[in-house]
Amino acid sequence: MLDDGLHTSFLRQVQIPRDIDNVFESEPGEFEEMMMIYSCAIKEAKTKLQVLNDELSIRHKRNPIEFIKTRIKQPDSIATKMKKKGLDLTVENVRENLNDVAGIRVICSFIDDIYRVADMLTAQDDISLLKIKDYIKHPKMNGYRSLHLIVGIPVFFSDHKETVRAEIQIRTIAMDFWASLEHQVKYKKNVRDAENVVYELRACADVINRTDYHMQSIRDRIVEI
Ligand code: GTP
Ligand code: MG
Repeated sequence: MLDDGLHTSFLRQVQIPRDIDNVFESEPGEFEEMMMIYSCAIKEAKTKLQVLNDELSIRHKRNPIEFIKTRIKQPDSIATKMKKKGLDLTVENVRENLNDVAGIRVICSFIDDIYRVADMLTAQDDISLLKIKDYIKHPKMNGYRSLHLIVGIPVFFSDHKETVRAEIQIRTIAMDFWASLEHQVKYKKNVRDAENVVYELRACADVINRTDYHMQSIRDRIVEI
């Protein structure tokens, strides 16, 4: 059998190198268990968001959430980020220092839905809000907009409960479209006319922001009868 030094864990999404417990100074299976816990936290958060969306779609005839994307940070990216932060590779250090091993992206149609979803989620008494970065009220210099929450999510297992950190990014469809292209530009080496691209992306971000607010004001003129 071909052994590339990886095994695809039960999680399927995670490619765990066979020597991971040497790399992370962990007990056998400890790293894989950590990944399982993060993957469960993603499921819990996603279900909570879907429940809120279902409730609002019945009670207010509105779907604040268009779609939800989730991702778990791969072991090699975890190791790279830990080294960048100057931290020893241990499971404990990952859990105490990385906020984005579990990542959830929530895409809304309108800006006010972003805040509604964030408020409803963080009001739940088993969710703790650890950090909030509002890149909508305070966009980044490049034009990036999004609301970022770092939350603690409890995950219940057969004999204990663990609270796990997750990064939730909430943005409009248009902000998401912009961020995808900007991300490609940032990580591709060959971009023609690169200096202008930065300015043009910034200009697009401003147009998108105006359009997002304009669309919301048009929607607000729809009178329910
Ligand atoms: P990391 O970037 O994850 O190390 O953390 P940070 O403390 O800088 O957090 P921040 O909340 O600023 O960004 C977290 C994530 O948001 C990133 O990993 C990206 O997914 C997204 N993000 C932040 N800034 C940008 C940006 O300028 N462009 C794009 N496309 N995405 C961004
Ligand atoms: Mg990140």
